[in-house]
Amino acid sequence: MIRVCIVCLGNICRSPTAEGILRHLVTEAGLSHAIHVESAGTGSWHAGEAADPRTRSEALKRGIRLEGLAQQFRSQDFERFDYVLSVDKDNLRVLEQLAPNAQAKAKLHLLRSFDPMSPPHAEVPDPYYGQGDGFANVFDICHAACTGFLDHIRTAHSK
Ligand code: 4NP
Repeated sequence: MIRVCIVCLGNICRSPTAEGILRHLVTEAGLSHAIHVESAGTGSWHAGEAADPRTRSEALKRGIRLEGLAQQFRSQDFERFDYVLSVDKDNLRVLEQLAPNAQAKAKLHLLRSFDPMSPPHAEVPDPYYGQGDGFANVFDICHAACTGFLDHIRTAHSK
C-alpha cells in the first residue's frame, strides 16, 4: 500500500479538494487497493470540521463528494505516509520543521511539482478569503497536479 497525505493550512479548502480528486482518479484506475489517500492541515483551527461549503459545492459540480473531516498534521504522521504533498511553500516550510528526521523530509514534495505543465515551485493559491472563481481554479489546478502525481506513482511503483 502506498500512503499519501495532501497538506494545506486549514484542511478545509485545497487539500480536501486534492484528496477527493486523487481518490477519484485512483478508484477510476482500479488502484484503490494499492493507494491510500488522506489530507490534513498544518493548522488546528478547523480540525473536526467538514470542508468549506464552497469547496464541497465546487467538487460536487465536478462529480466528487467530499465527506472527510479536517485533521491537523502532526510530526508522528510522517510514519504513516510515503508521500506528504504540500499545496504551497509556506506549509512545506512548516512540514520541514515538523519532520523528525531526513527520512521524513524525503517524503515531502510540492503537490504541483508532479504537474508537468506547471512552472517550477508552483503553488495552489489559497481561495479562502478570495471572491469569485477561486474554488473552480483550485479544483482545476488540483486536478492537473493529481493526474500527474498518479502518473508518477504508476511509473515509479509499476502500478
Ligand atoms: P485551506 O484554506 O488551507 O486551503 O484549507 C484555508 C482555510 C482556512 C483558513 C485559511 C486557509 N483560515 O485562516 O481559517
